[in-house]
Amino acid sequence: MFNSRNAGATQVQPTSPVPAHAIRFRTPVVETPAVFLITRWVWRLLRSVVLAPFRFPVAVSTVAGVVATVHYLGWVWLSLGVALSGAGLAGWWWRWPLSFRSLVVLRALATWRWLWVYRRHWQPVLVVAGLAESYQERQYLPQVKSVTCSEWADRVRVRLVAGTSPADVENRVVELAHGFAAPSCRVTVLGPRDVVLEFPRRDLLAEPLDALPIPDEVDLCALPMGLREDGQTWRMRLHGTHVLTVGVTGAGKGSVIWSAIRALLPAIDDGTVRVWAIDPKRMELSYGRPLFARYADSAETSVALLESAVEQMQQRAARYAGRQRTHTATADDPFVVVILDEVAFLTAYHPDRDIRRRAENAIATLTSQGRSVGFCVLAALQDPRKEVMNLRNLFPDKVALRLDEASQVDMVLGEDAHERGANAHLITPDVPGVAFVRLEGSPIPVRVRAAYVTDDDIAAMVAEYGPSPGLRSVPGEGVA
Ligand SMILES: Nc1ncnc2c1ncn2[C@@H]1O[C@H](COP(=O)(O)OP(=O)(O)O)[C@@H](O)[C@H]1O
Ligand SMILES: [Mg+2]
Repeated sequence: MFNSRNAGATQVQPTSPVPAHAIRFRTPVVETPAVFLITRWVWRLLRSVVLAPFRFPVAVSTVAGVVATVHYLGWVWLSLGVALSGAGLAGWWWRWPLSFRSLVVLRALATWRWLWVYRRHWQPVLVVAGLAESYQERQYLPQVKSVTCSEWADRVRVRLVAGTSPADVENRVVELAHGFAAPSCRVTVLGPRDVVLEFPRRDLLAEPLDALPIPDEVDLCALPMGLREDGQTWRMRLHGTHVLTVGVTGAGKGSVIWSAIRALLPAIDDGTVRVWAIDPKRMELSYGRPLFARYADSAETSVALLESAVEQMQQRAARYAGRQRTHTATADDPFVVVILDEVAFLTAYHPDRDIRRRAENAIATLTSQGRSVGFCVLAALQDPRKEVMNLRNLFPDKVALRLDEASQVDMVLGEDAHERGANAHLITPDVPGVAFVRLEGSPIPVRVRAAYVTDDDIAAMVAEYGPSPGLRSVPGEGVA
């Protein structure tokens, strides 16, 4: 006999305790009477007609103008009006091209993008991305409030459904970008229920960028490095900070280092900036050796160079003590940039424990005390995990090139960077030099691409700027 007590939880009971003829509950099917549906459609139609002049003033007044002209004046006058309007627009475009572009072209484009992309695909994309609950219930769909276009991106202002938060949207940026065929999606939070989604229309960073022109004046707080995804120049600060550049092999760490060196050239030339270079792989920096005040490649000389930097920094700090709180780069007190390629080679991978310890101590001292006295460390690293580099928090500024895993993004750029769209782990190998950075004063990571300084560019830089008179007088102190 079947014993229901011993049966597994998933087993079907052979005898139901409820007899077959007992009452069964069914969801009642209530059909809405047609009159209600028709009333609702009519109400919606009327509301759209009444609101149309307010929602689309230009389109409605144009149509009204055309109809009124044809009705009262005839086709000849309409043709004349069209020709005059066309001439007016052409004149506007010719005389004030910028305002014509922003007030006419970009607005027309925004309307087109709203109709053709966002309105058409909004519901399916949001449902598939998990941001809307059902295909049927409109009230569970976030609403597009407006679409505006800048030269490079669409900005879609969205009112979220009550019960969802901007963080939900931030977690779906990859799906949204795919859904609207954009290279990326960035979320700006305006309020608890209002966000702006920014979709670039095309990827300005897809093509490699030639080395930027060498500036006439060097601004140590804004060195031109490459391009931002919004088309502006990516500028990086070195004075008063330290920069850690992280990326897998081939991610383009060299292009970040060389773009910075290139931007410093006039200051290297006049002696107000000195670059000390450490190149454990002997691949990256050796090519530009005459540009550097100091250069080291073996572990022993590299550590000696770092310790010598610490000593000079401390001497300068002692000189400044009580007299001067900030550093201004001069030929007597130059700004010293210590460039460290493949820093983990010294701090983690080197077999000699003493070398590792000394290197780590020197880097920690330089980064924690050097900022205000004109010493900066610009380091490159492949693996941001703590075991390999526990000094990364001493670098206030970071550049996240292509990384292996999503978790590494937050390690490099700080908590929530990944959620805010810094998808450094999704950068493809075919775009070396593309990175995410946080710009000063903004928590939102920005995608950038470093300009590519080729070997020929470096050769030309060396021919023009190195070795400068200021550099030759620097004593070597046994450093290679
Ligand atoms: N900014 C860039 N733009 C275009 N190509 C680049 C850029 N940076 C690097 N590359 C290409 O990628 C290769 C590897 O770059 P590299 O800087 O040596 O990588 P990493 O130092 O991160 O291992 C270079 O030889 C070059 O061909
Ligand atoms: Mg390299």
